[in-house]
Amino acid sequence: MISLDNFKFISKEKIAGKTVILRADLNSTVEAGKLIPGPKLKKHADEIKKLSDEGAKLIVISHQGRKNSDDFIELKQHRREIEKLIKKRIQFSDWKNKKEMEKKIKGMKKGDVLLMGNSRFLEYECEELSPKEHAAKEEIKTIANLADFFVVDALSIAHRSHATVVGFIPLLPSYIGPYLEKELRALKELKPNNNVLLLGGMKPADSLKVIKSALEEDRASKVLLGGILGELALKALGYSLGKKDMFIEEKGFLPLVEEFEALFAKHKDRLVVPVDFAIERNGKREILLVKDLPVEYNIYDIGPKTIEEFSKAIKEANTVVFNGPLGRFEDERFAEGTKKVVDAIVNSNCFSLIGGGDTLTCLQQLGFKEEQFSHVSLAGKALLGFLSGKKLIALTVLESYD
Ligand code: 3PG
Repeated sequence: MISLDNFKFISKEKIAGKTVILRADLNSTVEAGKLIPGPKLKKHADEIKKLSDEGAKLIVISHQGRKNSDDFIELKQHRREIEKLIKKRIQFSDWKNKKEMEKKIKGMKKGDVLLMGNSRFLEYECEELSPKEHAAKEEIKTIANLADFFVVDALSIAHRSHATVVGFIPLLPSYIGPYLEKELRALKELKPNNNVLLLGGMKPADSLKVIKSALEEDRASKVLLGGILGELALKALGYSLGKKDMFIEEKGFLPLVEEFEALFAKHKDRLVVPVDFAIERNGKREILLVKDLPVEYNIYDIGPKTIEEFSKAIKEANTVVFNGPLGRFEDERFAEGTKKVVDAIVNSNCFSLIGGGDTLTCLQQLGFKEEQFSHVSLAGKALLGFLSGKKLIALTVLESYD
């Protein structure tokens, strides 16, 4: 599925005393302006500590949020969190003052860490330009001139042709970082047959793309649909859900129902939909069979018969890829579906791949440990893209420059 032959991996010997630009992904959940530190931050902090302990002068670059969204904030809270985790002071530089930035980089000593400001504060960061065009940008050139190496260390940004992801590659010897290496080595383990996709969560459009290509290119033997995906699939089969229909309409998910209709026309036998749900009635969890739809209460989880069916498919699988909770797991009454199906994963012999920081956070809240899975990827969208057969642009560019 993936060959690692054409990549260069950064090593301890190379970086001691050298100035290394590390493109990480510290992008995290932000609520009311406050950073909620998740597994991504912890994982990158571990790598930052390792590279700094090995003697690199480390310039860390990351984005946070998207322009005009509530989570579009500067990285100062991230800096404090990482300082706490690695027990070391981290310097900070924004992108605006070129002289200041140069002074700070030139003044770095072995083991120092400098965090740059949110890369999306650079107006051109997200422009989908070629690596060479990005390499010609002022700030990219300035930092590259002061550095020895560039390292990409996050699968979760490898699908972006953004300035700080691909712009340094034409200018500097560029490498795969230790965490990205781990991710790629795990993805190499994926077997081509008997793959089960277990998908839930609240971002059905991204998941639907993966489902489509996985089915069309014969890379999934079964797709188990939980969360909003399961509900959309049932609508495509002609069910009216009741109260949840309004939610689906308000969220603009109706066009996805049509896409599901087209998928059912071709791949009905491989799409597994819920046969029962858990609803909230008078403050209590109640089970409802799909044949009894529509319902005037909210649907919040899959029911016991669906859990059983999903678990059976998992038991027979070589590989299970799981992304997105199957119900409203934050509420104890509706965590059962996700918990029991994930129990089936950890008790099976399959290669289990967990996708995305949010999914990991959900599993940790349900009491699971990272070590119970074959691999936990911090990439959500990029991982799903990769699994849907898309080339990840940063990897392609890394392969093509020596
Ligand atoms: C992610 O959280 O998936 C990555 O940080 C990429 O974020 P983006 O989708 O805003 O580019």
